[in-house]
Amino acid sequence: MLEALKLTKDFGPLCALSEVDLEIREGEIFGLLGPNGAGKTTFVNIATTFLKPTSGTVRIAGLDVMEDTARVKNLLGVVPQEISLYDMLSGEENLEFFGGLYGLRGGRLKTRVSEVLETLGLAERRKGKISNYSGGMKRRVNIGAGILHEPRMILMDEPTVGVDPQSRHHIFGVIENLRDNGATILYTTHYMEEAERLCDRIAIIDHGKVVACGTKRELVALIGEQSVLEIGFSGDPDPAVLESTLPDARIHDRRILIHTTDPAAALPRVVSGLSGVGVDLTSINVQEPDLEAVFLRLTGHRLRDRGTES
Ligand SMILES: Nc1ncnc2c1ncn2[C@@H]1O[C@H](COP(=O)(O)OP(=O)(O)O)[C@@H](O)[C@H]1O
Ligand SMILES: [Mg+2]
Repeated sequence: MLEALKLTKDFGPLCALSEVDLEIREGEIFGLLGPNGAGKTTFVNIATTFLKPTSGTVRIAGLDVMEDTARVKNLLGVVPQEISLYDMLSGEENLEFFGGLYGLRGGRLKTRVSEVLETLGLAERRKGKISNYSGGMKRRVNIGAGILHEPRMILMDEPTVGVDPQSRHHIFGVIENLRDNGATILYTTHYMEEAERLCDRIAIIDHGKVVACGTKRELVALIGEQSVLEIGFSGDPDPAVLESTLPDARIHDRRILIHTTDPAAALPRVVSGLSGVGVDLTSINVQEPDLEAVFLRLTGHRLRDRGTES
Protein backbone atom coordinates (compact mmCIF):
# COMPACT_ATOMS: atom_id res chain seq x y z
CA MET A 1 0.00 0.00 0.00
CA LEU A 2 2.89 2.36 0.80
CA GLU A 3 6.44 1.87 -0.35
CA ALA A 4 9.35 4.16 0.48
CA LEU A 5 12.62 3.67 -1.34
CA LYS A 6 15.85 5.28 -0.21
CA LEU A 7 13.89 8.20 1.17
CA THR A 8 16.19 10.98 2.32
CA LYS A 9 15.42 14.43 3.71
CA ASP A 10 18.06 16.96 4.68
CA PHE A 11 17.32 20.20 6.51
CA GLY A 12 20.56 22.00 5.73
CA PRO A 13 23.29 20.05 7.49
CA LEU A 14 20.76 17.97 9.45
CA CYS A 15 19.75 14.66 7.93
CA ALA A 16 16.18 14.05 9.18
CA LEU A 17 15.71 10.91 7.07
CA SER A 18 18.50 8.82 5.63
CA GLU A 19 17.80 6.30 2.86
CA VAL A 20 14.64 4.97 4.49
CA ASP A 21 13.15 1.84 2.91
CA LEU A 22 9.69 0.85 4.16
CA GLU A 23 6.85 -1.27 2.92
CA ILE A 24 3.40 -0.99 4.47
CA ARG A 25 0.99 -3.75 3.49
CA GLU A 26 -2.65 -3.24 2.69
CA GLY A 27 -4.92 -3.66 5.71
CA GLU A 28 -2.33 -3.48 8.45
CA ILE A 29 -1.63 -1.10 11.29
CA PHE A 30 1.99 -0.20 10.76
CA GLY A 31 3.88 1.46 13.58
CA LEU A 32 6.74 3.90 13.15
CA LEU A 33 8.36 3.83 16.58
CA GLY A 34 11.14 6.16 17.59
CA PRO A 35 12.12 8.88 20.06
CA ASN A 36 11.44 12.57 19.54
CA GLY A 37 13.52 13.89 16.67
CA ALA A 38 13.84 10.48 14.99
CA GLY A 39 12.18 11.67 11.76
CA LYS A 40 8.62 10.34 12.14
CA THR A 41 6.82 13.58 11.32
CA THR A 42 9.19 14.26 8.43
CA PHE A 43 8.27 10.87 7.00
CA VAL A 44 4.54 11.54 7.40
CA ASN A 45 4.88 15.00 5.84
CA ILE A 46 6.58 13.58 2.75
CA ALA A 47 4.08 10.72 2.41
CA THR A 48 1.20 13.18 2.61
CA THR A 49 2.83 15.42 -0.04
CA PHE A 50 3.34 18.37 2.35
CA LEU A 51 7.12 18.14 2.09
CA LYS A 52 9.47 17.34 -0.80
CA PRO A 53 12.15 14.73 -0.16
CA THR A 54 15.79 15.50 -0.90
CA SER A 55 15.97 12.18 -2.74
CA GLY A 56 14.20 8.84 -2.92
CA THR A 57 10.54 8.04 -3.56
CA VAL A 58 7.29 7.20 -1.82
CA ARG A 59 4.56 5.34 -3.67
CA ILE A 60 1.06 4.92 -2.27
CA ALA A 61 -1.27 2.44 -3.97
CA GLY A 62 1.26 2.44 -6.78
CA LEU A 63 1.18 6.24 -7.21
CA ASP A 64 4.28 8.37 -6.83
CA VAL A 65 3.42 10.99 -4.19
CA MET A 66 5.51 13.63 -5.97
CA GLU A 67 3.99 13.04 -9.40
CA ASP A 68 0.40 12.04 -8.64
CA THR A 69 -0.09 14.47 -5.77
CA ALA A 70 -3.81 15.11 -6.31
CA ARG A 71 -4.75 11.43 -6.64
CA VAL A 72 -2.63 10.49 -3.64
CA LYS A 73 -4.32 13.15 -1.51
CA ASN A 74 -7.71 11.66 -2.37
CA LEU A 75 -6.66 8.27 -1.02
CA LEU A 76 -5.26 9.60 2.22
CA GLY A 77 -6.54 10.65 5.59
CA VAL A 78 -4.15 12.62 7.75
CA VAL A 79 -4.21 13.06 11.52
CA PRO A 80 -1.52 15.64 12.31
CA GLN A 81 0.61 15.63 15.44
CA GLU A 82 -0.47 19.16 16.35
CA ILE A 83 -4.20 19.44 16.98
CA SER A 84 -5.62 21.73 14.31
CA LEU A 85 -9.21 22.58 15.18
CA TYR A 86 -11.26 25.76 15.46
CA ASP A 87 -11.70 26.53 19.14
CA MET A 88 -14.80 28.65 18.73
CA LEU A 89 -16.67 26.06 16.70
CA SER A 90 -18.34 22.95 18.11
CA GLY A 91 -17.00 19.45 17.51
CA GLU A 92 -19.73 18.89 14.96
CA GLU A 93 -19.02 22.17 13.13
CA ASN A 94 -15.32 21.35 12.98
CA LEU A 95 -16.06 17.98 11.40
CA GLU A 96 -18.46 19.60 8.91
CA PHE A 97 -15.73 22.06 7.97
CA PHE A 98 -13.06 19.38 7.48
CA GLY A 99 -15.48 17.07 5.67
CA GLY A 100 -16.12 19.93 3.24
CA LEU A 101 -12.39 20.29 2.64
CA TYR A 102 -12.30 16.62 1.70
CA GLY A 103 -15.13 17.17 -0.78
CA LEU A 104 -18.10 15.82 1.20
CA ARG A 105 -21.37 17.71 0.70
CA GLY A 106 -25.05 17.73 1.69
CA GLY A 107 -26.64 14.57 3.09
CA ARG A 108 -23.46 12.55 2.72
CA LEU A 109 -21.55 15.08 4.82
CA LYS A 110 -24.25 15.10 7.54
CA THR A 111 -24.34 11.31 7.66
CA ARG A 112 -20.59 10.93 7.88
CA VAL A 113 -20.27 13.61 10.59
CA SER A 114 -22.93 11.80 12.66
CA GLU A 115 -21.28 8.41 12.13
CA VAL A 116 -17.84 9.69 13.08
CA LEU A 117 -19.15 11.51 16.19
CA GLU A 118 -20.82 8.26 17.20
CA THR A 119 -17.71 6.16 16.54
CA LEU A 120 -15.56 8.50 18.56
CA GLY A 121 -17.98 8.60 21.49
CA LEU A 122 -18.63 12.32 21.03
CA ALA A 123 -22.26 12.27 19.92
CA GLU A 124 -23.57 13.70 23.19
CA ARG A 125 -21.09 16.55 23.21
CA ARG A 126 -21.37 17.38 19.51
CA LYS A 127 -22.77 20.87 20.13
CA GLY A 128 -20.12 21.86 22.68
CA LYS A 129 -17.36 24.28 21.74
CA ILE A 130 -13.91 22.78 21.20
CA SER A 131 -12.53 25.26 23.74
CA ASN A 132 -14.55 23.42 26.41
CA TYR A 133 -13.38 19.94 25.35
CA SER A 134 -10.81 17.94 27.32
CA GLY A 135 -7.47 17.08 25.70
CA GLY A 136 -8.69 13.57 24.94
CA MET A 137 -11.88 14.86 23.28
CA LYS A 138 -9.91 17.27 21.10
CA ARG A 139 -7.65 14.41 20.04
CA ARG A 140 -10.70 12.40 19.08
CA VAL A 141 -12.13 15.22 16.95
CA ASN A 142 -8.69 15.65 15.37
CA ILE A 143 -8.80 11.97 14.39
CA GLY A 144 -12.39 12.31 13.18
CA ALA A 145 -11.38 15.10 10.81
CA GLY A 146 -8.94 12.72 9.11
CA ILE A 147 -11.34 9.79 8.61
CA LEU A 148 -14.59 11.46 7.50
CA HIS A 149 -14.08 10.73 3.82
CA GLU A 150 -13.32 7.03 4.47
CA PRO A 151 -9.76 7.12 3.18
CA ARG A 152 -8.03 3.90 2.12
CA MET A 153 -4.89 4.87 3.96
CA ILE A 154 -4.69 6.88 7.17
CA LEU A 155 -1.51 8.46 8.50
CA MET A 156 -1.69 9.23 12.21
CA ASP A 157 1.16 11.18 13.74
CA GLU A 158 1.31 10.58 17.51
CA PRO A 159 -2.48 10.79 17.83
CA THR A 160 -2.63 10.01 21.55
CA VAL A 161 -0.12 12.45 23.01
CA GLY A 162 -1.62 14.08 26.10
CA VAL A 163 -4.60 11.73 26.18
CA ASP A 164 -5.99 10.09 29.32
CA PRO A 165 -5.91 6.25 29.46
CA GLN A 166 -9.64 5.90 28.87
CA SER A 167 -9.61 8.03 25.72
CA ARG A 168 -6.50 6.20 24.54
CA HIS A 169 -8.23 2.87 24.95
CA HIS A 170 -11.22 4.19 23.00
CA ILE A 171 -8.97 5.58 20.25
CA PHE A 172 -7.23 2.21 19.90
CA GLY A 173 -10.61 0.55 19.42
CA VAL A 174 -11.48 3.07 16.71
CA ILE A 175 -8.19 2.47 14.90
CA GLU A 176 -8.57 -1.31 15.03
CA ASN A 177 -12.05 -0.92 13.66
CA LEU A 178 -10.79 1.16 10.76
CA ARG A 179 -8.25 -1.55 10.01
CA ASP A 180 -10.86 -4.29 10.26
CA ASN A 181 -12.97 -2.39 7.75
CA GLY A 182 -10.14 -2.41 5.24
CA ALA A 183 -8.13 0.75 5.87
CA THR A 184 -4.34 0.71 6.03
CA ILE A 185 -2.89 2.72 8.90
CA LEU A 186 0.48 4.28 9.56
CA TYR A 187 0.75 5.09 13.25
CA THR A 188 3.74 6.98 14.63
CA THR A 189 4.58 6.92 18.31
CA HIS A 190 7.40 7.24 20.79
CA TYR A 191 5.55 4.96 23.22
CA MET A 192 6.81 1.39 23.03
CA GLU A 193 3.69 0.10 24.80
CA GLU A 194 1.43 1.63 22.14
CA ALA A 195 3.37 0.09 19.28
CA GLU A 196 3.31 -3.31 21.00
CA ARG A 197 -0.34 -3.13 21.83
CA LEU A 198 -1.69 -1.76 18.57
CA CYS A 199 0.57 -2.39 15.61
CA ASP A 200 0.67 -5.45 13.36
CA ARG A 201 4.20 -4.57 12.27
CA ILE A 202 6.64 -1.99 13.52
CA ALA A 203 9.62 -0.12 12.09
CA ILE A 204 12.05 1.22 14.66
CA ILE A 205 13.49 4.55 13.60
CA ASP A 206 16.32 6.49 15.19
CA HIS A 207 18.27 9.48 13.87
CA GLY A 208 16.50 9.25 10.51
CA LYS A 209 17.37 5.60 9.94
CA VAL A 210 15.16 2.55 10.10
CA VAL A 211 17.14 0.19 12.27
CA ALA A 212 14.71 -2.75 12.19
CA CYS A 213 11.28 -3.73 10.94
CA GLY A 214 8.88 -6.59 11.62
CA THR A 215 6.28 -7.94 14.00
CA LYS A 216 7.07 -7.54 17.66
CA ARG A 217 7.98 -11.21 17.71
CA GLU A 218 10.31 -10.88 14.75
CA LEU A 219 11.98 -7.81 16.21
CA VAL A 220 12.59 -9.54 19.48
CA ALA A 221 13.90 -12.67 17.73
CA LEU A 222 16.20 -10.49 15.63
CA ILE A 223 18.36 -9.68 18.60
CA GLY A 224 18.12 -13.18 20.02
CA GLU A 225 16.29 -11.82 23.03
CA GLN A 226 14.71 -14.62 24.93
CA SER A 227 11.50 -15.01 26.87
CA VAL A 228 11.67 -16.09 30.46
CA LEU A 229 9.48 -19.02 31.38
CA GLU A 230 8.81 -18.79 35.10
CA ILE A 231 7.31 -21.75 36.89
CA GLY A 232 6.35 -21.85 40.53
CA PHE A 233 6.26 -25.18 42.38
CA SER A 234 5.51 -26.58 45.80
CA GLY A 235 7.19 -29.34 47.79
CA ASP A 236 10.85 -29.90 48.52
CA PRO A 237 12.47 -31.68 45.60
CA ASP A 238 16.14 -32.55 45.75
CA PRO A 239 17.89 -29.62 44.01
CA ALA A 240 20.45 -31.94 42.44
CA VAL A 241 17.70 -34.07 40.90
CA LEU A 242 15.87 -30.99 39.62
CA GLU A 243 19.04 -29.66 38.07
CA SER A 244 19.82 -32.88 36.28
CA THR A 245 16.22 -33.08 35.02
CA LEU A 246 16.25 -29.49 33.72
CA PRO A 247 19.86 -28.60 33.02
CA ASP A 248 18.98 -25.27 31.33
CA ALA A 249 16.97 -23.98 34.29
CA ARG A 250 17.88 -21.61 37.07
CA ILE A 251 16.16 -22.58 40.27
CA HIS A 252 15.66 -20.48 43.32
CA ASP A 253 13.01 -19.73 45.87
CA ARG A 254 10.54 -22.38 44.58
CA ARG A 255 10.72 -20.89 41.13
CA ILE A 256 12.23 -22.30 37.98
CA LEU A 257 13.44 -19.83 35.37
CA ILE A 258 14.20 -20.91 31.83
CA HIS A 259 15.44 -18.51 29.15
CA THR A 260 14.16 -19.60 25.78
CA THR A 261 13.18 -18.20 22.40
CA ASP A 262 10.28 -20.64 22.26
CA PRO A 263 8.45 -20.86 25.61
CA ALA A 264 5.54 -22.79 24.06
CA ALA A 265 7.91 -25.61 23.11
CA ALA A 266 9.79 -25.54 26.40
CA LEU A 267 6.72 -25.71 28.62
CA PRO A 268 5.64 -29.35 28.02
CA ARG A 269 9.22 -30.52 28.52
CA VAL A 270 9.39 -28.71 31.85
CA VAL A 271 5.99 -29.94 32.99
CA SER A 272 6.79 -33.59 32.27
CA GLY A 273 10.24 -33.22 33.81
CA LEU A 274 8.73 -31.88 37.01
CA SER A 275 6.01 -34.51 37.28
CA GLY A 276 8.83 -37.09 36.97
CA VAL A 277 10.40 -35.79 40.19
CA GLY A 278 7.06 -35.52 41.99
CA VAL A 279 6.74 -31.73 42.09
CA ASP A 280 3.43 -29.86 41.84
CA LEU A 281 3.21 -26.72 39.71
CA THR A 282 1.65 -23.68 41.35
CA SER A 283 2.04 -21.06 38.61
CA ILE A 284 3.24 -20.54 35.06
CA ASN A 285 4.25 -17.15 33.72
CA VAL A 286 5.90 -16.13 30.48
CA GLN A 287 7.81 -12.88 30.61
CA GLU A 288 8.33 -11.72 27.05
CA PRO A 289 11.14 -9.36 26.19
CA ASP A 290 9.88 -6.01 24.98
CA LEU A 291 10.69 -3.47 22.28
CA GLU A 292 12.57 -1.33 24.75
CA ALA A 293 15.12 -4.15 24.98
CA VAL A 294 15.26 -4.35 21.18
CA PHE A 295 15.69 -0.61 20.84
CA LEU A 296 18.40 -0.52 23.45
CA ARG A 297 20.30 -3.35 21.83
CA LEU A 298 20.11 -1.89 18.32
CA THR A 299 20.76 1.79 19.05
CA GLY A 300 22.74 1.70 22.26
CA HIS A 301 20.35 4.06 24.01
CA ARG A 302 16.88 3.96 25.50
CA LEU A 303 13.74 5.09 23.71
CA ARG A 304 12.92 7.43 26.58
CA ASP A 305 16.33 9.03 26.98
CA ARG A 306 15.62 12.02 24.82
CA GLY A 307 12.01 12.57 25.77
CA THR A 308 12.21 16.35 25.98
CA GLU A 309 13.79 16.95 22.59
CA SER A 310 11.45 17.69 19.71
N1 LIG B 1 11.45 22.31 9.01
C1 LIG B 1 12.54 21.87 9.64
N2 LIG B 1 13.72 22.56 9.59
C2 LIG B 1 14.83 22.11 10.18
N3 LIG B 1 14.89 20.97 10.90
C3 LIG B 1 13.77 20.23 11.01
C4 LIG B 1 12.54 20.64 10.39
N4 LIG B 1 11.60 19.70 10.65
C5 LIG B 1 12.20 18.77 11.41
N5 LIG B 1 13.50 19.08 11.62
C6 LIG B 1 14.48 18.27 12.36
O1 LIG B 1 14.49 16.98 11.78
C7 LIG B 1 14.62 15.97 12.77
C8 LIG B 1 13.41 15.03 12.69
O2 LIG B 1 12.27 15.75 13.13
P1 LIG B 1 10.82 15.10 13.15
O3 LIG B 1 10.56 14.47 11.85
O4 LIG B 1 9.88 16.14 13.60
O5 LIG B 1 11.00 13.97 14.28
P2 LIG B 1 9.87 13.21 15.13
O6 LIG B 1 8.56 13.47 14.51
O7 LIG B 1 10.30 11.78 15.10
O8 LIG B 1 9.96 13.77 16.52
C9 LIG B 1 14.72 16.71 14.11
O9 LIG B 1 16.08 16.83 14.43
C10 LIG B 1 14.10 18.06 13.82
O10 LIG B 1 14.62 19.04 14.66
MG1 LIG C 1 6.85 14.20 15.27
